[in-house]
Amino acid sequence: MNIKYLGHSCFLITSKEYALLFDPFLNGNPSSGAKADDVNATHIFVTHGHDDHIGDAVSIATRCGATIYATVETAGLFPKGAALDVGQMGGFIPADFGGVKFTSAIHGSNVSGGLSCGFLVTLDGKKIYHAGDTGLSMDMALLEDDNVDVALLPIGDRFTMGPKDALRATKLIKPKQVIPMHYNTWPVLNQDASRFKKDVEAATGVKVTVLAIGDSVSL
Ligand code: NI
Ligand code: MN
Repeated sequence: MNIKYLGHSCFLITSKEYALLFDPFLNGNPSSGAKADDVNATHIFVTHGHDDHIGDAVSIATRCGATIYATVETAGLFPKGAALDVGQMGGFIPADFGGVKFTSAIHGSNVSGGLSCGFLVTLDGKKIYHAGDTGLSMDMALLEDDNVDVALLPIGDRFTMGPKDALRATKLIKPKQVIPMHYNTWPVLNQDASRFKKDVEAATGVKVTVLAIGDSVSL
């Protein structure tokens, strides 16, 4: 499988048959790795209702006939007729590509009464954890049992974990690999990802892959 970074918290994870797209903030992102019209997906995952995560989910889903995964409340932001598969934290939804579990996140959702989430996706026997926007939490320790292959963790600070807490998250999750996200999109989120890589690898032995926007890594 291939994990492509499209900037901010947007990743396109592809296997032979499937193209899973996370938090597709593309046309509104000043440093996006693609235009929404050029991205094809079979399934789209939206962690919460902030604009930098919903992004172009609806237009891509409509054009591609993709299913959107979101919590019940976040799903309420999408137009009627959109193909939705909804869940809540702790719940697993089996799917043709493998399945997805909704994980907890500490963050606003932009929907009254709704929560922000992360996703633990199974694809081709691999487990990928997209943390969404979140602060560090002890819930992340529960993911150790899931044997996460790749953890996509925010490091931008201010609205989410910063690099130091993302290092602590890595110690709790114990994934095989970490890819940082949600940084450098705007000056307030500026972080030194290469220093994060050095610090995490020295402290935990977990491999950190820093992807430039548009770059990808194979699993
Ligand atoms: Ni947010
Ligand atoms: Mn955000």
